[in-house]
Amino acid sequence: MRTLLEIIKEEIRKSGPISFRRFVELSLFHPEHGYYSSGKARIGKRGDFYTAPSVHRSFGETISRFLAEASLLLEGESFTVVEFGASGGQLAFDILGALSRNHPELYSKTSYVMSEASPAAVRTAKERLERHRGRVRWIDDLQKFGKGGFCGVVIANEFLDSLPFHRLKLYDGKIQEVFLFLRDGEIEEVLRDPEIEGIYDFSKRYLDGYSQGEEAEACLLAGKWLAEVGGALQKGFVLSIDYGSLAPELYSPGRRKSTFRCFYRHELSSDPYTRVGEQDITADVNFSELMRIGDILGLATVEYTTQGQFLVDWGILEIFKTYDKPQNQGDRLAAKTLFMPEFMGRKFKVLLQSRGLSPEKLRGLEKNRPFRIIL
Ligand SMILES: C[S@@+](CC[C@H](N)C(=O)[O-])C[C@H]1O[C@@H](n2cnc3c(N)ncnc32)[C@H](O)[C@@H]1O
Repeated sequence: MRTLLEIIKEEIRKSGPISFRRFVELSLFHPEHGYYSSGKARIGKRGDFYTAPSVHRSFGETISRFLAEASLLLEGESFTVVEFGASGGQLAFDILGALSRNHPELYSKTSYVMSEASPAAVRTAKERLERHRGRVRWIDDLQKFGKGGFCGVVIANEFLDSLPFHRLKLYDGKIQEVFLFLRDGEIEEVLRDPEIEGIYDFSKRYLDGYSQGEEAEACLLAGKWLAEVGGALQKGFVLSIDYGSLAPELYSPGRRKSTFRCFYRHELSSDPYTRVGEQDITADVNFSELMRIGDILGLATVEYTTQGQFLVDWGILEIFKTYDKPQNQGDRLAAKTLFMPEFMGRKFKVLLQSRGLSPEKLRGLEKNRPFRIIL
């Protein structure tokens, strides 16, 4: 059987150099051998990396508190949550479990819609969510909501960082993109004019002060995703949680080099050409771009903050207090990982956007800091 690396080389032989973005797309989402599509992606202790839902259920439980408040503003007969990159359904499981225990009425009118590119992960999620079968459905295209779209909350936890990204470099005063070609049968990087027009606009916006040889990553698919969400969300919230920053930090002088990362069994590397299809490849999210596109689409920025602050605002400390027995030491440690700044609390950011409602009425915000940005 041919390996994914051989398949990629074959594509280069046939059609000429491919962009690094295409390489990431094949590495992660080649239908048969891609890291995510093939089911090789493993999240959690025995996997390649942790995500918040894999660390502790209090992440989902805290988000369920936010959802309960959001549902009051939405006031519909049904309540729709759309989760992107739902993976094996852990976050859905924790959210639905918490809603069924603490907000049974809301639970009974919730429609939890999941989008996941990996068929293997969908299978796992279906098993995990068996007890919530009546509440869950799957979607591969937001158009399926029909012309009127939907009202509700969109959740994307560590979804945007898994979208294929372009690698850019300033060379001879021009923005160039990293492409891959073959020399003596081995992959080599070469600079070429960008693959798509949108890169020029992106570069004008964010990479203006760049000098010869300085690099950046650009995930144009993140903006495309938000545009699709914006096209379908009639009224409600978009909650994006991920590692990343605002553009001034992301493209600051100290970071003008390649900053994407590969993960294999919790080992961090910067070499995307080993273990192709066996390791994750990921890049920081540009939250400024999501805010900019949101503004154009009428998705107002409600707040941009750290994961730690968001979780504290929505009551993770109250949940934490319930782990006071010696047998809950493990829960205490895991929950702390989610909100303490030295663990996931500061590195992960939360962007909350809204359309068509008065977000200042959300109690979690009122209590603490309406429209404040603390980083
Ligand atoms: C880093 S994992 C995060 C999983 C989960 N949200 C969590 O926090 O544990 C990213 C997930 O997004 C999925 N994904 C990536 N691109 C996607 C797309 N265009 N549509 C649906 N799912 C996608 C991947 O298959 C993968 O399961």
